[in-house]
Amino acid sequence: MIRFPFVLIMIIPNILVNTYFGKQKYNQAMTQTPEQRKVHYLLRILHSRSSAKEARIYNYVPYLAYKWKSVFWKTSDEQYDLRKRTESKMLLVNAFQVVLDISVIIVLITFGSGGALTIGHYVSLTQALQQIQSIITGLGYSIAAIYEESLFINEVLHFLDLEVENSKDRNRKFPGKLTSQIEVRNLSFTYATHTSPQLKGINFNISPGEKIAIVGENGAGKSTLVKCLLGLYLPDEGAIFFDGVDMRTIDPNSMRQNVSAVFQDFESYQLTVRENIAMGHPKIDDDAYIEAAASKAGLADLIDKLPNGLDTELGAMFHNGHELSGGQWQKISLSRAFMRDSQIVILDEPTAALDPRAEAEIYDNFATLYEGKTTIMISHRLSSCRHADKIIVLHNGEIIEEGNHETLLAAQGAYAEMFHTQAKRYAS
Ligand SMILES: Nc1ncnc2c1ncn2[C@@H]1O[C@H](COP(=O)(O)OP(=O)(O)O)[C@@H](O)[C@H]1O
Ligand SMILES: [Mg+2]
Repeated sequence: MIRFPFVLIMIIPNILVNTYFGKQKYNQAMTQTPEQRKVHYLLRILHSRSSAKEARIYNYVPYLAYKWKSVFWKTSDEQYDLRKRTESKMLLVNAFQVVLDISVIIVLITFGSGGALTIGHYVSLTQALQQIQSIITGLGYSIAAIYEESLFINEVLHFLDLEVENSKDRNRKFPGKLTSQIEVRNLSFTYATHTSPQLKGINFNISPGEKIAIVGENGAGKSTLVKCLLGLYLPDEGAIFFDGVDMRTIDPNSMRQNVSAVFQDFESYQLTVRENIAMGHPKIDDDAYIEAAASKAGLADLIDKLPNGLDTELGAMFHNGHELSGGQWQKISLSRAFMRDSQIVILDEPTAALDPRAEAEIYDNFATLYEGKTTIMISHRLSSCRHADKIIVLHNGEIIEEGNHETLLAAQGAYAEMFHTQAKRYAS
């Protein structure tokens, strides 16, 4: 009868201490996450190839190493402190259990010396006690570990519950061929990290086959608008219709088959030329197809010169990798868009690293190659946009002017001013 409470007395302190410190460990992991990220980030800057030149020129390694050390030691000290507190409490629990064991043994010896127990009884009872002891310790740790893990698992479940792309109600197909128009109605968008909107009350239409240019100073909202048009962000207010179909109802996969884009902050993959251009494309083994896309982006000469043609490894991360210049990387990223036969093609300043002549060539080339397709381009060189059918001028997330090059120049507004400023700069 007394066995059950006895087992409880042995197990409860163990569980209590372990769960209490398990919870503390979880809280610590949660509060330390931003600092841990910082530690990893700083370490990455200190290691990475791309920051190596600035690290030397500006000699910031000692400063960053100091910063890294202070965050690293702060988090490590906190962890060490918690570990110390956990272990000192566990030491008490273990001492309590030893005292309990000794008391039981004393009781057994007393009984034994009184003749109530044989040596055989005594030995088996003490062995049983030892076994119970180790089972209880293990059980205590396991129960507390389940509790601690469950706290972390809740985080994972919460993360998995976040909707990546609400595709339940997005089951309509993108129009097979756009015939009527793309309509942006009263579109507003606010990034989760902001309180005021980055796009406000945007209204415009695009006819199929039209060439649109979006211009405006840095931070005006051009890239954000383009990402909304691509369906990467859903508008908070207003809507975008493709031939009357609300973008919110279009299956994201169907959407992606019909639009392609090259971004300002494109990726340079440390893989082969072939993979850089055709990754994810069914024609990845079709040399002629890939070479055609590359030559549209002005890369034919370069590929001829590469040691292994399309199978040359790019980037200096791996052995034998062939490093390219910024402009050459940019052309590689442009080739990716040329691989696809999308209905809508978007260029979001992918030519910033190109010289003005190369950029003009790309844009002219682009206009000819995409004749009849809907294109949206953003360039900070207004001369690249002058042949657009429609130019949209953004300022602080709002459209302030809209028209073609001639009408906007005649209006003598913001566009005309930007254009003349640039023209003067290039002329001088
Ligand atoms: N991913 C993002 N998260 C939060 N804010 C952003 C993000 N991208 C851009 N912004 C903010 O939105 C505004 C518009 O940015 P963006 O559309 O990139 O401008 P543009 O392409 O015209 O230079 C800026 O104020 C910028 O700080
Ligand atoms: Mg941008």
